[in-house]
Amino acid sequence: MSDVAPTVHPAWLPAEAFGPLGRRHTMAHGTGLLVDTVVGEVARACARYGGTVRHTPAGDPAAPAPHPTTVPSPPDRTPAPPVAEPDGDVDLLLALRDAPTLPAWARRLAAGAATPLGDEGFLLAGAGERTLLLADAPAGLLYGLFHLVRLGRAAFDARPVECHRPALALRMLDHWDNVDVHPVTGQVERGYAGGSIFWRDGAARGDLARVREYGRLLAACGVNAVAVNNVNVHATEARLLTERLGDVAAIADVLRPYGVRVHLSVTFAAPVVLGGLPNADPLDAAVRAWWADATRRVYDRIPDFGGYLVKADSEGQPGPFTYGRDHADGANLLAATLAPFGGVVHWRAFVYDHRQDWRDRSTDRARAAFDHFAPLDGRFRENVVLQVKHGPIDFQVREPVSPVLAAMPATRLAVEVQVTQEYTGQQRHVCYLGPWWSEILGFAPWGPDGPTVADVAAGTARTRDGRTGEAGGSRGQTPGGGLVGVSNVGADPFWTGHPLAQANLYAFGRLAWDPGLDPVAVLDEWIGLTFPPSTTGEPGLVRRTLHAVLDGSWWTYERYTAPLGVGFMVRPGHHYGPDVDGYEYTPWGTYHFADRDGVGVDRTRATGTGFTGQFPRPWSERYEDLDRCPDELLLFFHHVPYGHRLRSGRTVIQHIYDTHFAGVEQVEAMRGQWRRLAGLVDPALYARVSERLDEQRRCAAEWRDQINSYFFRKSGVPDEHGRRIW
Ligand code: GCU
Repeated sequence: MSDVAPTVHPAWLPAEAFGPLGRRHTMAHGTGLLVDTVVGEVARACARYGGTVRHTPAGDPAAPAPHPTTVPSPPDRTPAPPVAEPDGDVDLLLALRDAPTLPAWARRLAAGAATPLGDEGFLLAGAGERTLLLADAPAGLLYGLFHLVRLGRAAFDARPVECHRPALALRMLDHWDNVDVHPVTGQVERGYAGGSIFWRDGAARGDLARVREYGRLLAACGVNAVAVNNVNVHATEARLLTERLGDVAAIADVLRPYGVRVHLSVTFAAPVVLGGLPNADPLDAAVRAWWADATRRVYDRIPDFGGYLVKADSEGQPGPFTYGRDHADGANLLAATLAPFGGVVHWRAFVYDHRQDWRDRSTDRARAAFDHFAPLDGRFRENVVLQVKHGPIDFQVREPVSPVLAAMPATRLAVEVQVTQEYTGQQRHVCYLGPWWSEILGFAPWGPDGPTVADVAAGTARTRDGRTGEAGGSRGQTPGGGLVGVSNVGADPFWTGHPLAQANLYAFGRLAWDPGLDPVAVLDEWIGLTFPPSTTGEPGLVRRTLHAVLDGSWWTYERYTAPLGVGFMVRPGHHYGPDVDGYEYTPWGTYHFADRDGVGVDRTRATGTGFTGQFPRPWSERYEDLDRCPDELLLFFHHVPYGHRLRSGRTVIQHIYDTHFAGVEQVEAMRGQWRRLAGLVDPALYARVSERLDEQRRCAAEWRDQINSYFFRKSGVPDEHGRRIW
């Protein structure tokens, strides 16, 4: 956008990406705030590339707009659209299906899609020289527009009718942003990209142009919701619900034109800390009345408010346990106040004992979410989304999928992933997470013929009558909870600290829209948009190099960090770099149990914590069985001797040595590959990535040496290849 400081990197929306669109002669039919956004985007592209655009608001002008129009229709600095020639010259038609003025050729093409496109879907068709983008609702036109941008010139080739609809209705980013700078966690908890784009030093940052640009980037990758503050709600942040609501409304106003709804993290203790009530008991009438009133006020101000996000009875946050109530009581209280307005409560399932005695071998943190929540299945209101971390522990580089996702057929479940790289290199390391998320979303908890995790998030794997993993019933008729990512964005000029971490944000949105996409193809899209051939020297080399650096980077990161799914081994507190025993004797429940004979956590039913029994078949059996457990998760499920032979044929100890040496070599190769791009890409971006790759190399070597030395000293087993171990 023209009013954003030029120092902010355009990410996947550089002006050049709009070239093919901006050369067309476009006609737009339809009314609504989002249609205005679409027309503004096209007009800006045309102003640069010489095309034309004409907007004929059609339909009943008195009909209510789909989004509130309490603010002037941004983008408010859009140049006046160049005017198209009469209809005959139009080669791109953007239209709502019910527009009465659709020309005959467009009606013929539209007839190819009799089924509804839904609130966000769109149809794309090409006939001869003309292209049609059609939607049933304005948001569909917006997503369709960015689809055209993604396709570039190919968008305007002749093509059969294709319909696109998002697989997941809720595609949300949670910002762990604090309003005040927190003494321990700072402005953004687990933020690695500078300050917050929303808040600074106790107040709203006020840079709404930047927030609007963010909304634009989100729409262009498919995200439709954000939570604007940290799940750990401190004193000032609690007030966003009441006297600071205006700050939230201002954000909502600039994100609305891009179809992004705003959600708020609230403290369960709000009736006490904000309302002065003696308690926050969810069954107390005064507490219910307080929440109902607070929620009504929110909707008075933000009519399309998304809802609340709650971390309750987790890591010290208040919750219903204080009053002898359970999570369903707590979530339903808030859901009841949101329901009349169409809002949802995202209730997090990240609940465990963070004050565990490390000597206590009967408590297993991996079990906690299932033990707390599975018994509550069927008790949550329909507008409660239970937000479940993808793994049972905490966003490690490798974990099994959380068994909660297969245990609550009568509950709307959202899958939560971490786009911010808390445990995957903190945006100092290249780690493209698309393949990891794709693997999670494609995991089939009931076996290869059953629904996947993506189906669970889409709501198509469940029935209200309590059956999951089966076809039939009311399958597909209840909404899912969607995909949620913890944002990796900050006030940094590159948005994400590490410029290549932008790919994670982009991939998050694209996989939330369509979990079946190939993550390497998604990366290729991102490369094409972010590094337009016209702006780089040797575009082919740039593309190949970015693939070489990014495609396998998650596996590379896994190789030089905690082995075989055992997790953690990070430095306590900030979680960067190795510290093998850092958490071993702490209350946090994250242990590896390495001794002179072996390593790993026995979570079997036969001799361990019984966690394997939380999975349905076939996984409960496979994980239990030492010989059939996947290698990459072996130490998550089993405690084994160092000489145990993996399915790969290698011993555990030799696997540890080999992967750690290989991981560092791969980082060195990445560095060498990147250097080929000197002078071929933006020098500031080149420098930033180079500096981070140097740090990645240093840190990877530190991981290698600490992990290898630790296990050599514990086991006394030498490396078969005689490489240097300290
Ligand atoms: C992790 C992370 C915390 C965060 C928590 C959560 O434990 O380290 O910073 O608050 O997850 O998901 O709530």
